[in-house]
Formats: sequence, structure tokens, C-alpha cells
Amino acid sequence: MDKAEQFIKDRLKAKTEHGSLRKLSTKSFAVDFSSNDYLGFARSSELKSVIEDNLSQIPQYKNGSGGSRLLSGNHMFTEQTELLIAKFHSAESGLIFNSGYDANLGLLSSLAQRGDTIISDEFIHASLIDGARLTHANRYTFKHNSIIDLEAKLSLAKGNVYVVVESVYSMDGDLARLKEISDLCKKYHAALIVDEAHALGIFGDHGNGLVQHLKLENSVFARIVTFGKALGAHGAIVLGSKILREYLINYSRSFIYTTAAPLHNIAVIKSGYDMLIETDYTALIQDRIQYYTEVARASSMPISIGKSAIQTILYHNNSEAKNAAELLQSTGLDVRAILSPTVPEGRERLRICLHTFNTDKEIKTLIDTLSSIQEHG
Ligand SMILES: Cc1ncc(COP(=O)(O)O)c(C=O)c1O
Repeated sequence: MDKAEQFIKDRLKAKTEHGSLRKLSTKSFAVDFSSNDYLGFARSSELKSVIEDNLSQIPQYKNGSGGSRLLSGNHMFTEQTELLIAKFHSAESGLIFNSGYDANLGLLSSLAQRGDTIISDEFIHASLIDGARLTHANRYTFKHNSIIDLEAKLSLAKGNVYVVVESVYSMDGDLARLKEISDLCKKYHAALIVDEAHALGIFGDHGNGLVQHLKLENSVFARIVTFGKALGAHGAIVLGSKILREYLINYSRSFIYTTAAPLHNIAVIKSGYDMLIETDYTALIQDRIQYYTEVARASSMPISIGKSAIQTILYHNNSEAKNAAELLQSTGLDVRAILSPTVPEGRERLRICLHTFNTDKEIKTLIDTLSSIQEHG
């Protein structure tokens, strides 16, 4: 017991000394530049009333699901929602997981076997890394978005080969070179897996994602769409063929061995999709991205500007990034620092999320404040 406690203390001390000790906080700030609620759905009263409407129409509604999907936790409403989402994304089928983390873990860990190969972009999300780690497959990373390095790795790959990317990278906000990656996957008979967590609602017709925007849905083996970002909900779906869905129901442990999400959660997800189907919000968010771009370009700061709703300001270390975030927060702007080891050392950053509800004035204030931090600092 003493040894275990000492071990924990030492590990936490190391994090404190590194400047990367994580702490939960309930602080809130006036202006949201931090959440993944890109379209404002999480705070939308319109969505709330769509949810109430959907809830009132569910036959045999129960508060809890009572078990896993394979036992007592399945419901016609959940299956209908999966069909609706698959149709929206032009996919043959979809299977809902309790979170994006679960979906990525369950998809990768069940697919790749000993002798197979997983090749992933070096910047993929921790949930995909963890899914790959649970396999006995050979694992390689390729340099971020490098087609040359991907091809070098593909040319050596053995067994069934899976290439794993995000369409919009969660910490950098840049886009995968999906067309070239998909062409390479075809050339080497590799299955392409794309995490669309940060593309839903931002790209494509009615926000259906970057894969569909580029008309690549038939070239992708599986897509993961998460509901905790632009949809303002919680959970995720794996989109792919009917046989992939059947496979996951049989082999994906994070699907099989967990209590199904309650119907209330499924109703929130379905309602989010009802809203996306009804209205195309992409012009609204693209307008905010455009405005940020203009103001940032006009400023004195050397900011790299991306096409997605995630923008970054890079710093050299954890304390610089943390100080900048604290200064912004002291003026009411909610901007968070992303520290190493979540991002590579020397590339610590502010991660700025743009939302449909961010006003011109808020964006201008953000850039002005950032510029003055830079000048004085
Ligand atoms: C790219 C990416 N994939 C997956 C996840 C995990 O999704 P969830 O938050 O639903 O577990 C996230 C969110 O942090 C993400 O950014």
C-alpha cells in the first residue's frame, strides 16, 4: 500500500514539475472559444424542444436502457436512429457506440489481428492510438500528412493493412490530404479509416463531413462520427458496410460489454441530426472562420490559419501557453492551453474553437488581446 501511494505521489510530482499537472475545474468564462460546440447545439433551446418532441414519440420509453445492446438494452428507436444517420452520411450502415473513445477503441482493437498492419498519422487522437495498442498487429506511424512517408510505410506493410487518419485534426485543426491518402490506400489495397469527429457540421452538404464533401464515401472502409462536438450531444457512430456492422456487434468489446446508452441520449442524437437535416449550418460556421481569418491576417501576429473551426497559436513550452491562456481568461475569454504531452514538446498551444455564436466583436477582442500579449510578452 505504502509503495503504491509513493508511486502515485512520485508520478504526480513529476507532472507538477513538468508543468503539466491536470486539474478539473468548474470555472466558466463569458465567451466560449474552447468548447467543441461549434454550431451551438449544446446550448440550443431549439434543439431542446426537438428533443422533447422526439422523446414524446418513443414507444415504451424507459429512463435507463437496462443492459447492453445485445441483451435488454436495444430498442427500435436506436436502430431507426442508426439508419437515419447512415442515410445522412451515404453509408450502408452504422453502429452507435457510447462515445467516440469507445468507438475508436472497439473498431481498431477488433479489426487488426496478429500479422496485420496499422499505419496511422502521427497526430491521431489518443482513442485511436489506444485502439491500435490493444491489438497484436504491427503498428507504424507516418509523418503528419506526409504522402511520401505513408507510401514508404505502405510498401512494407504485411497482412491486412489499415490506414488511420482524422479528416480534421483535433489539436491542429488542419485537414487530412484525404484524396491522396485514399488513392494510396487503393494502390496498396489498404482499408482507410477516417475519424470525422471535427468535420461533422463544418464541411460537406448540411455538414455531413469532409469525406462526403470530397465524394470519398465509397473509398473509405470505415468512418467514425462523434456526437459530442458539433452535434452538441454524446456518443458516436461507426459508419461502414452492413457486414462491418455485423462484425462489430460480434467482436467489438467496447460495444458488447457495456450498458447501452439510455433512450434519452439517443433522442438527443437523433434530434441533432433532425436539425442538421432541416438546416445547413455550414455557411454560418464558415462565415465565422472567414471572419477570424481576416482579423488574424490583419493583425501583427504570425498565426497559421486553418480552414476548420479549430485554430491554434503555438508556443514554445507549457508555461508560455498556460500564461497566455490565463491572461485571456482573466479578460473573460475562454481559451484553453493544450500542453505537452498531449501535443509534442515545443508545440504547446492555445486551441481556439470558433462557434456560430461567436460575434465579430468577440473575435476581434480575442485577436487584439492575443496581439497585445505577444507584444508585451
Ligand atoms: C478526433 C477525435 N476522435 C475521438 C474523440 C473521442 O470522442 P468522445 O469525446 O465522444 O469520446 C475525440 C474527442 O476528444 C476526438 O477529438
